[in-house]
Order: sequence, then C-alpha cells, then structure tokens
Amino acid sequence: MSGRVKVGVFGAARGMTMIKQLANSQDGVLVAVCDKYKPLLDKCRALAEEKGLKLELFEDFEDFIQCDMDAVVLANYANEHVPFAIRLLESGRHVMSEVLTCATMAEGLRLAEAVERTGKIYCYAENYCYFNTTTEMRKRYMKGDFGELLHAEGEYIHDCSSIWPDITYGERNHWRNQCYSSFYCTHSIGPILFSTGLRPKRVIGIENPNTYMRQYGMNGGGHAMEIIELENGATLKSIHFSLKREPFSVNYEMYCEKGVMETDRWDFQKLHTYIEGEELCKGEHLEFKPEFDVAKELVEAAGHGGSDFFTVYYFIRQILGDEEAKKNCIDVYQALDMCTPGILAFKSICNGNVPFDVPDFRDKTVREQYRNDNFCTFKEIAGDQWVSPDRLNRPEIPDSAYQAMYRQWQENLEKAKKENSDNNANVAF
Ligand SMILES: NC(=O)c1ccc[n+]([C@@H]2O[C@H](COP(=O)([O-])OP(=O)(O)OC[C@H]3O[C@@H](n4cnc5c(N)ncnc54)[C@H](O)[C@@H]3O)[C@@H](O)[C@H]2O)c1
Repeated sequence: MSGRVKVGVFGAARGMTMIKQLANSQDGVLVAVCDKYKPLLDKCRALAEEKGLKLELFEDFEDFIQCDMDAVVLANYANEHVPFAIRLLESGRHVMSEVLTCATMAEGLRLAEAVERTGKIYCYAENYCYFNTTTEMRKRYMKGDFGELLHAEGEYIHDCSSIWPDITYGERNHWRNQCYSSFYCTHSIGPILFSTGLRPKRVIGIENPNTYMRQYGMNGGGHAMEIIELENGATLKSIHFSLKREPFSVNYEMYCEKGVMETDRWDFQKLHTYIEGEELCKGEHLEFKPEFDVAKELVEAAGHGGSDFFTVYYFIRQILGDEEAKKNCIDVYQALDMCTPGILAFKSICNGNVPFDVPDFRDKTVREQYRNDNFCTFKEIAGDQWVSPDRLNRPEIPDSAYQAMYRQWQENLEKAKKENSDNNANVAF
C-alpha cells in the first residue's frame, strides 16, 4: 500500500509504548485507541493534543472496529489476543499482536487458519528478539560464523512482586493471577528460534510451585522451565518468571559447532563470543556491545533496551511492502513455534513431566487433533478442559489478598498523581 498506514491500538497500558511510537512515526499514523479504563484514554487525549493528532478514542471494541484503520496493534489481555485478532483479520485489517500468541492449541490453529484465509499480515511483537545482543546473535548465526546450533539457553527472570498491585489491579481473574507457570515463555524461547530459524520438536515442562507470589494473589507456579528438542536435534533450556534477582535477568546462550555466543549475565546489552581457531580448543574471545543498524536516537527513545522500536517499525514497513522488513517480522507460524511449547509444557507438568510433540502448524495434516484442544487454566476459554494453575491444589487465595492489592494500586495511583509521575508499570512482563 502507499501513503501512511492508519493504525489503531487496542489496550493502552503496555499499548502506550506503541501509542507514543506511532505518534512520532513517519510511516504510520495513529488514528484510534481503545481501552475500557478511561484514565488511559485521557492520557491518549493529552498526547494527541500535544502532537496535533486527530485521534478517535473508544471504550468498546465494537465501536473501535468500525473506525477507519488499516492495521491494529493488540495490547489487550495476554490470554485474549486470538479472538480479537481473528475479528480484525476478517475485517480486512493487518494485525500486530503483543505476547502471547494464543492461550490454547485450538486458538493457535484458528489463528493460523485466519491468517491464511484472509491473506492479511500478522506480526508477533516478541520484542526480546530485537535487543542489540539478540539481533547480533541472529545476524552472526545466519552468516554461519558459528556453525550449527547444538545447545541453547534462554532466561527471563523477573521478580514482579513490587509492581504486582499496578499490573493486576487487585483482580482475582486477571490473566497474570490465573495463567499457568509456562504460559509466558516467548521472551526466553523466542530469540533462540528467531536467531536460528529452527523449530521446536518436543517439549518437557517442569515448574517450581509458587513460593512467594501467592501472597500477592498469583495462583500459578513460581517459575517454569521448558526443556525442548529442536528440529536439528539441538537442546534448548528455557526458564522464566519469578525469582529474586535485581536487575531482572534476560540472558541467552547459543553453543554451536564452532563456538559460543552468550549475553552478559549482568549487563544485558553486552555480548560475549568465542570462536575456535585452527587449533582445537583455542580461539578468539570477544566482549562487546553490538550497535543497532538504524538511527540510534529512535531506538534509544524506545523501551526494553530499544527493542520496542523494532516491532512496530518492521510491522508498518512490511505493510508498506518493504521486503527487508518482512524478513525481520515474526510471522504467525514462528509466533506459534515460540508459544505452543509453553502450553504443551504445562500439559507435561500436569502429566508427570512426560514429553509432548510440538506440532508444526504450517503442516495442515497435523492440525486436526488440536481443533478442540482447549486445555488451559483460564476458565472461560477452557470450558470442561480447565485445569487449575495451582498444581498443589492449595486452598483458594482469600479475597483479602486481592483487596490489599487493590488498595495498594489506588495508593500508588494517588502518589503518582501528586508527584505528577507515570505509575504505569507496563514495562513489566
Ligand atoms: N513485550 C513486552 O515486553 C510486554 C510488556 C508488558 C506487557 N506485555 C503484553 O502487553 C499486553 C497487555 O499487558 P499490560 O501490561 O498492558 O496489562 P493488562 O493486560 O492488564 O492491560 C490490558 C489493557 O487492555 C485493556 N483491555 C483489555 N480488554 C479490553 C476490552 N475488551 N475492551 C477494552 N479494553 C480492554 C485493559 O483495560 C488494560 O488497560 C499483554 O499481552 C502482555 O503480555 C508485553
């Protein structure tokens, strides 16, 4: 298409990152925002005034979808992306979805079919694939500098206890309180799959029962691990969520035939590489901060180490027909490869840690067995296939825990108002 792409954003908490970027974009124009929480719409109104933008604001998705827009960024609840993505694709819009791709295997299948049926662009906003380090790892792997992958590790450890009131609002049924331990797996798995182009073949899940997050209202396990066999036989260990560590940990390691690339454990913008030379077990070690290829000032203004910039940028450029951008976008099949191991890992956890095959949804012959697979911990989605996120089946978390979270959230909002600061903790997971 020609001209600027008209973009709407659904969900304005984490979505505010995209809203701000779109308000300054040359390729896209922000035309609409939808969020049922009015204070967020007020913030958008103020931003539109400041930037001189004509922006439509909606509380209801049914009104939002009627609006004149070419594309939509989904930054609504992490377990509700698929039904909205399908509605939007079928209405002729391109879609960029925040993490996670889908909540169940059946949803994953329906999403792939909707993208195929409509021919619209679907792009997955797994921003951790676009750090300076993970971008460099992808570039170097694709160039063949390190040879074939043998083993990889991906880690996303984030103790969210201090911001839990601000990101769950005291709601018992908030997805963060009801998700399964292996749900939020794409920050740790995604960059490895994106760097190598490999697919997951089989997965085993292991979790640690919730240790300290339960007092704040979280039902699921504390952290989870996926042990994955990739299609070339390489092994991948993915670990994510709540353990005590500051600053939070984002870490990737790729052991290959000729050497290793790994991010620094305490400075996540630094990369270490080792490549073996002529002599066995001797080679070159390097330690450096890779530079981004695009304008530094744009990237630095974005969150998550600059990675937030690239998801929106490549999405819009792909819509405009930029083939380079298309190569840098994560399509629906790769998005499913990043997400479905987490769903199946929880099946594994519920079944004594047995392995499960990870289907390749590109292959139509493997799809049918997942058509009615609604296994998950979200009651409205799972129906009679519901399983509790609490594998220890402890007594229900008392209402008082959620009431305390709500009160703390309100106090934090009040404090932020007085200090004229932004309380929104949406840089969280
Ligand atoms: N990639 C990252 O680094 C990153 C960081 C934070 C959040 N996220 C993702 O962003 C998404 C949103 O998370 P969040 O932190 O903003 O918290 P959230 O899920 O609590 O917020 C979602 C927002 O969408 C709005 N919303 C949801 N359903 C709606 C509906 N039907 N109608 C109108 N408004 C609706 C809510 O009012 C809320 O403001 C999730 O998918 C999360 O996984 C990603």
